[in-house]
Amino acid sequence: MLKQIEEHIIEVEKFEADSIESAEHFRIKYLGKKGVLNDLFLAFKNVPNEEKKAFGQALNKLKIKAQEKVDALQKHFGDKEDQGNRKIDLTMSAEPLRLGTRHPLSIVKNDIIEIFSRLGFTISEGPEIEDDWHNFSALNLPEEHPARDMQDTFFIQRNPDTLLRTHTSSVQVRFMEKNDAPIRTISPGRVFRNEAISARAHCIFHQIEGLYIDENVSFADLKQTLLHFAQEFFGKETKIRLRPSYFPFTEPSAEVDISCNICKGKGCNICKYSGWVEILGCGMVDPNVLDNCGIDSKKYSGFAFGMGIERITMLKYQVKDLRLFFENDIRFLEQFKHA
Ligand code: PHE
Repeated sequence: MLKQIEEHIIEVEKFEADSIESAEHFRIKYLGKKGVLNDLFLAFKNVPNEEKKAFGQALNKLKIKAQEKVDALQKHFGDKEDQGNRKIDLTMSAEPLRLGTRHPLSIVKNDIIEIFSRLGFTISEGPEIEDDWHNFSALNLPEEHPARDMQDTFFIQRNPDTLLRTHTSSVQVRFMEKNDAPIRTISPGRVFRNEAISARAHCIFHQIEGLYIDENVSFADLKQTLLHFAQEFFGKETKIRLRPSYFPFTEPSAEVDISCNICKGKGCNICKYSGWVEILGCGMVDPNVLDNCGIDSKKYSGFAFGMGIERITMLKYQVKDLRLFFENDIRFLEQFKHA
């Protein structure tokens, strides 16, 4: 019987399958329920004790060899089968790329730019790190002027003449210094103020300011330009209202409200039941500012206005917390697919 086992071992070692069927046949022959190994294990019970050791060792060797062979055959034919079955459809289109969306502030900024571009305004930009002159002094805010406190400024400690611009009016100063009247330009950009962060305020935000300078520009031109903007942006039925205000660089100055685009003037918590919401500050450019920037205030006059892009975006999309614009949660951002 030992000899029989050794013959089996040789057979197992030599065996080569030419097909899946013959490999399967081999498996059943050796490892199947009624296979060689089971038969031999049954026979093992009747082997005389003194032969049990040699018989057992041989039998185990056969078992291991047979199992190894079956494993090898399965791997071999299994891999082949996989290759045969794996159908690659080269005509299938690729997974679509998920396109990003524009940030809501960019959407609104671009919309505002487009409206003013149609009126002939160019776009001007300037540095975010400014000097005192362009952010304050040229704008009729000399040192010690109490109105400087209106804008909580981040100064650069080592050089107090250097600061983070608190408004994009600084760009208008730069523009006037470099260009002659007539001027029609808008300056979008990021501005900085040392304010506590809350649902309604942030230390970083965005503005668009506009400047229009020519001969005989009047307050009526300002009002009509802003009415046009409000109706283009918020809808044809929008009304505007001007309230007297104060800015050092404009005289007279005003704050502009639009009729609440949410309740249509009936009263809601966005307009605090007044029917009006503030959107911007504006006024006729103070002649001092024109002169500071090299424009003849006897010949030219002009208007300026400035709005916060966050504020306009919150009104347009009814966003109640300004901080959402900076957190960049994709679930928030994805909602602003531009039509
Ligand atoms: N620069 C002003 C601000 O940041 C806004 C403004 C611009 C007001 C132009 C009047 C004219 O608050």
